[in-house]
Amino acid sequence: MNKFTHLIDLDDFPIEYIKKIVKSGADIALNTDEYSECCKGKVLATLFYEPSTRTQMSFQTAMLRLGGTLIGFDNPETSSVAKGENLKDTTKVVSSYADIMVMRNPVEGSAKAAALSSDCPIINAGDGGHLHPTQTLTDLLTIKLAHGQLENLTIGVCGDLKYGRTTHSLCKTLSKFSGNKFIFISAPELSMPDYIKDIVKANGCEFEEIYSLEDALPKLDMLYMTRIQRERFAGKSDAAIDKYILTKDMLRLMRPDAIILHPLPRVDEIEIAVDDDPRAKYFLQAKYGVYVRMALIIEVLKNENPVKLFHEEHSDIICKNEKCVTRKEKYLPHSFRRKGDMLFCDYCEAAQP
Ligand code: CP
Repeated sequence: MNKFTHLIDLDDFPIEYIKKIVKSGADIALNTDEYSECCKGKVLATLFYEPSTRTQMSFQTAMLRLGGTLIGFDNPETSSVAKGENLKDTTKVVSSYADIMVMRNPVEGSAKAAALSSDCPIINAGDGGHLHPTQTLTDLLTIKLAHGQLENLTIGVCGDLKYGRTTHSLCKTLSKFSGNKFIFISAPELSMPDYIKDIVKANGCEFEEIYSLEDALPKLDMLYMTRIQRERFAGKSDAAIDKYILTKDMLRLMRPDAIILHPLPRVDEIEIAVDDDPRAKYFLQAKYGVYVRMALIIEVLKNENPVKLFHEEHSDIICKNEKCVTRKEKYLPHSFRRKGDMLFCDYCEAAQP
């Protein structure tokens, strides 16, 4: 058991804990000023190894609105990472300056790896194409405030489902709420990874995989659009992959009470003309990110829920995922979780065939 309430993956926490953060986020949205001294004297570090607008600035705004202060970098080239410093040393040092640390890193499993050497709680702000749990909290608050419920919804998830970490975190968590159904809409090359489909199934939710966005639209309570994650294609072209664009004309296919979410940034997946439709909630979604992250910072600093992050060490097994942090940071212990006959990497969740 580690010493801190690290938020690496919402799956590490009971559903009641997630509901509590969402409920608290809703209260903070209405009564923001009442929370203005909750983190007085506390320091938040934001370590962003890859670009961000919303996640970084909403965390910073959240801490400032709670009365705390900030340190960090938004470009590793301006830190000693540029001199070759490893993740362990950067984490160890910054965690001795801060009370809580938010990390985004392009390498899968890096937030969990950082938790191994951190002397303060770590929040995963996106680890490569793997997970983005605080985006999910933002999404949940938006859905709850729009629909009044997180259960019994038909949820369309469209775009780059292979590399879209926001869709992985969202489907893992929403499948824990009873009665939700998923429609995964993507080009075959960018379909939802098997391990996410297995989790959705194991949580008792139905899903279907289809190609046509138009066919899905009339069935949906929520459409979650995502962009193609070009930065994860490792030099390969995405030119041959079919793109999805939600146009204003297509809105006539949607129910009047359906909502449209997008984690943003948008490239061209949603026509600008859609923005004025009352069902378009994506700018509100970005705004709610501040409130739910305020709720999360308060909860994590209470440090009441340290969770088990690592399971079985197998120094002889090398994770099969080339994008796993254990491939880059060679000093890390190789750790796996057993499910049935299979082992799954504790850092990146890749199955070890
Ligand atoms: N949704 C999201 O993670 O946006 P940023 O990349 O701008 O942080």
